Amino acid sequence: MADKKAQLIIEGAAPVELPILSGTMGPDVIDVRSLTNQGVFTFDPGFMSTAACESKITFIDGDKGILMHRGYPIEQLAEKSDYLEVCYALLYGELPTAEQKATFTAQITGHTMMHEQMKSFLNGFRRDAHPMAVMCGLVGALSAFYHDSLDNNNPKHRELSAIRLIAKMPTMAAMCYKYSIGQPIMYPRNNLGYAENFLHMMFNTPSDVQPVNPVLAKAMDRIFILHADHEQNASTSTVRLTGSTGANPFACIAAGIAALWGPAHGGANEAVLTMLDEIGSVENIEKFIAKAKDKNDPFKLMGFGHRVYKNFDPRAKVMKQTCDEVLSELGINDPKLELAMKLEEIARNDPYFQERNLYPNVDFYSGIILKAIGIPTSMFTVIFALARTAGWIAQWKEMYAGGYKIGRPRQIYTGHTQRDYTPINERG
Ligand code: SDX
Repeated sequence: MADKKAQLIIEGAAPVELPILSGTMGPDVIDVRSLTNQGVFTFDPGFMSTAACESKITFIDGDKGILMHRGYPIEQLAEKSDYLEVCYALLYGELPTAEQKATFTAQITGHTMMHEQMKSFLNGFRRDAHPMAVMCGLVGALSAFYHDSLDNNNPKHRELSAIRLIAKMPTMAAMCYKYSIGQPIMYPRNNLGYAENFLHMMFNTPSDVQPVNPVLAKAMDRIFILHADHEQNASTSTVRLTGSTGANPFACIAAGIAALWGPAHGGANEAVLTMLDEIGSVENIEKFIAKAKDKNDPFKLMGFGHRVYKNFDPRAKVMKQTCDEVLSELGINDPKLELAMKLEEIARNDPYFQERNLYPNVDFYSGIILKAIGIPTSMFTVIFALARTAGWIAQWKEMYAGGYKIGRPRQIYTGHTQRDYTPINERG
């Protein structure tokens, strides 16, 4: 991969040659691993210009608004595939044959139930606990139940943990919801599809089991696809960094859930609905646009902007189409959708947003669909975590399979130079 070189001239030192590595797509990278021998570090807070790993799973082109998983464009996967197929491609590199898909689906189905004692673990939380707090606890606790798949150096253990996590996330997510509303937990049903089963566990009760609306199940499955993986975002990088210490996969995914929770990341879908509630009506949009542009105001337009996409987030386009489908299927005329569309129109015509290439991202419309399906706002980021588990664990597996070193960034130190300890009566 290295046939080009970069030359670094450091004053007073001999020029340093650094290999330039090329991938199959996207920018070249300058391999700076030898720089420590020169007594210098690179400095890149927020990793704006840093490639932390090599990966074959997901490719993003932020300027062109391209997102591909294993080479398949997200638009095609959203239209033609389903979430379990995308999980298979993320994990194994290819879309499954019919036989492989049947086997994989059966494996997932066979692991959807939780250890019965997980219910008592749940009871330790207050009913009004944020479901992301509960999910951090439940997923982290899985390592206390599944001791038979914790040897990260055993490929079969890595495989089993990946299957268990993808299979159990919907069950745990629904458990969080049912617990928060004081309803009995619903068990998964082996005769239901992945997204269908999730909606069954969310909205059915032991005394009233209704068939899941297939349009809603399809919309839910598509939302899972759109959130499945996204290169080296903050939560995926957290999973990789945690995994690089040898921590078990359940702890790594719990760490990813914690990182995703932030409103700048996966928490944005919940924050978009809160923001739309705050804006309230079209008349108030200009006021909030002004707040978003005001450097002295911490308010940001939630669901807008992206570290990588400086064009439309391709997922946002598909999400908007899905939004239209679901609302028309349900006969819902949600004023929040009108408000969101007006907000997008005004923001996209404002020079501040144009100059900074700020477009709607995956979170801008997702909340409106989830709300239409009946999912409470507090559960939105849980849905994101449920879907992203496939990407997180695929990236974790890739890291283990490819050889890795423990992640340990350095710093530029700007604190005190050495000074002597002073007794307390000489201070102040
Ligand atoms: C996700 O990384 C991923 O791939 C994430 C994700 C995934 O699938 O894993 O795609 C999921 O996290 C999507 C993003 C969800 N977050 C939000 O919607 C929150 C609102 N967006 C912003 O917080 C922000 O856009 C970020 C965090 C998403 C990106 O921030 P960056 O890359 O650090 O960009 P920046 O803050 O340096 O912004 C550049 C400029 C700044 O203005 P100037 O200092 O140049 O004058 O744009 C401004 C920012 O103030 N800006 C915004 C803005 N986003 C950026 N101004 C108002 N509203 C916004 N939303």
